[in-house]
Amino acid sequence: MSTPPAIHVQGLEKSYKDLHVLRGVDFDVARGSIFALLGSNGAGKTTVVRILSTLLRADTGTAQVQGFDVATQAADVRESISLTGQFAAVDEILTGRENLVLVAKLRHLEDPGTIADGLLDRFSLREAGSRRVSTYSGGMRRRLDIAMSLIGNPSVIFLDEPTAGLDPQARIEVWQAVKELANGGTTVLLTTQYLDEAEQLADRIAILHLGRIIVNGTLAELKQLLPPAQVEYVEKQPSLEDVFLAVVGDTKKQG
Ligand SMILES: Nc1ncnc2c1ncn2[C@@H]1O[C@H](COP(=O)(O)OP(=O)(O)O)[C@@H](O)[C@H]1O
Ligand SMILES: [Mg+2]
Repeated sequence: MSTPPAIHVQGLEKSYKDLHVLRGVDFDVARGSIFALLGSNGAGKTTVVRILSTLLRADTGTAQVQGFDVATQAADVRESISLTGQFAAVDEILTGRENLVLVAKLRHLEDPGTIADGLLDRFSLREAGSRRVSTYSGGMRRRLDIAMSLIGNPSVIFLDEPTAGLDPQARIEVWQAVKELANGGTTVLLTTQYLDEAEQLADRIAILHLGRIIVNGTLAELKQLLPPAQVEYVEKQPSLEDVFLAVVGDTKKQG
């Protein structure tokens, strides 16, 4: 009855030499949902994304994307996904439209121009489409990058810190683009260091800390981990940041 998850991760471990980065990571991502993997710098978020996108092998544990095993069915996994890294992969010399057409041609799709125009519309880049990317703002560039990663209709898209380094306005633009993706039925796994980003976008949020997922739930569930709101002059609901600090606790003691 229930549809299998788009992403299933179990017991994932990964070390870089002596550095034991992932120590048993487990989570599932439901199809068509937005899942935020939240963690501090160096927590291992990119390592998880690289394993799920078949760029890196786990030491132990298993992971499936769209039902395909990342270790033994890597080609099938790659056909189902797209990956947008922390640093935009667009060509500055080309126009936005030319970038999109280029990718569509590389994927041997019919009618690259129509595909490009559709994506420019969808990501509010129609006006800018005929301008060189070198003239784009950070938010426009990142939106174009996300649009490019959608060519070929991947079922699952990985966004590794999609708004890192963007100003607040550009972040809001990218958030809109991500919401747009999920509305279209794409499963989104995004990583972020920003609590408000997870709060804004995600259906579920998992906190990766010291190599494990220490919390995994909806925003409402995460907020319930804290004592109820206290009545002072105004009622103050715990922010996700309060939850994060409460569950992460005293890092110095644990580490
Ligand atoms: N190829 C590598 N070789 C050695 N150490 C690495 C390598 N890649 C990442 N690391 C280390 O592993 C830890 C986790 O890195 P990463 O997955 O990039 O974290 P995040 O994306 O959460 O910032 C960091 O301490 C990082 O320095
Ligand atoms: Mg990273």
